[in-house]
Amino acid sequence: MENHFNQAPTQPQTAQINSLTMTRPDDLHLHLRDGEMLAAVLPHSARQFGRALVMPNLNPPVTTTAQALAYRRRILDALLDSADFEPLMALYLTDNTPADEIRRAHESGVVHAIKLYPAGATTHSDAGVTDLKHCAKTLEVMQELGLPLLVHGEVTDPSIDLFDREKVFIDQVLVPVRRAFPALKIVFEHITTQEAADYVRDAEAAPGTLGATITAHHLLYNRNALFQKGLRPHYYCLPVLKRERHRMALVKVATSGNPRFFLGTDSAPHPKGLKEHACGCAGCYTALHALELYAQAFDRVGALAQLEGFASFHGAAFYGLARNSGTVTLRRESWQLPLELPAGEHTIVPLGAGETIAWRLA
Ligand code: DOR
Ligand code: ZN
Repeated sequence: MENHFNQAPTQPQTAQINSLTMTRPDDLHLHLRDGEMLAAVLPHSARQFGRALVMPNLNPPVTTTAQALAYRRRILDALLDSADFEPLMALYLTDNTPADEIRRAHESGVVHAIKLYPAGATTHSDAGVTDLKHCAKTLEVMQELGLPLLVHGEVTDPSIDLFDREKVFIDQVLVPVRRAFPALKIVFEHITTQEAADYVRDAEAAPGTLGATITAHHLLYNRNALFQKGLRPHYYCLPVLKRERHRMALVKVATSGNPRFFLGTDSAPHPKGLKEHACGCAGCYTALHALELYAQAFDRVGALAQLEGFASFHGAAFYGLARNSGTVTLRRESWQLPLELPAGEHTIVPLGAGETIAWRLA
């Protein structure tokens, strides 16, 4: 397969940057799973990031503050002693999440967001929301408390083409919910289209009320990656990769310095056998080399100077968190990505397995 990582920068920088030291970043959208998988993937994220917002789509999902506290404990217990990493927890919104649960979540100090999975949209979303109308009281309390709603922004109507589901979500769900709750903090998660990028960039919103995360894979690849000389299940995620014009729009906003856009890897580990499968799971595993992938994407367009804002400042500001105190350093140094990684009795295939990548986290 063509090595995407080594494409020459399209806008060469005046002087090549070979090393980049920046404030320790945050991953504001991460899947850590549980048990053996958690133990296998956590060291990767803890090496790269100071904090991560941990998605609640376990099976069963994390719907209560008590469950979030217990899950946080399991994550902290799985951390190596040397790791300096803070999990930020989220609750999984259902049709029946009581408004009181939102108050408990807010009071806990460890739940930083509530995640909307439209029922059936993606992995472990069956318990998700069938219609946001059921959640009006809950959203009202979130708005009052300043607890952000994170949206998996895809409609689930099977009659809507898969590649259009994000665009349709903007009109059918996002615009109405923002009209009904204008002060509600909302993050449009893992955006994949020009329409989403434009919407988040241009929407009228009070400062700090509208944001979007962007994954490294959506900055690096378009949908051709799924079909390079055959079907490539490790490039399959949801929302699915889109056309090149969408990728370019995402790169543009991510590298623009606009504080509404920030880093969220959506790294989503699945056992190799469930990716290379007749009905393969959605999710790209990028926790191992997330910063290197983002550096590659920013470097390609001569925008490495914008990476720190995107990775370390904008998300923290949105969530009202202090910036992390340490730094990380990336060097221009080629290395080969492993073909697979151990994960208990399974293995995980990292995105770009076997390819060489031009940046390395020191
Ligand atoms: O590709 C994805 N994988 N998208 C999601 O929304 C969920 C995630 C997962 O949990 O595997
Ligand atoms: Zn996700």
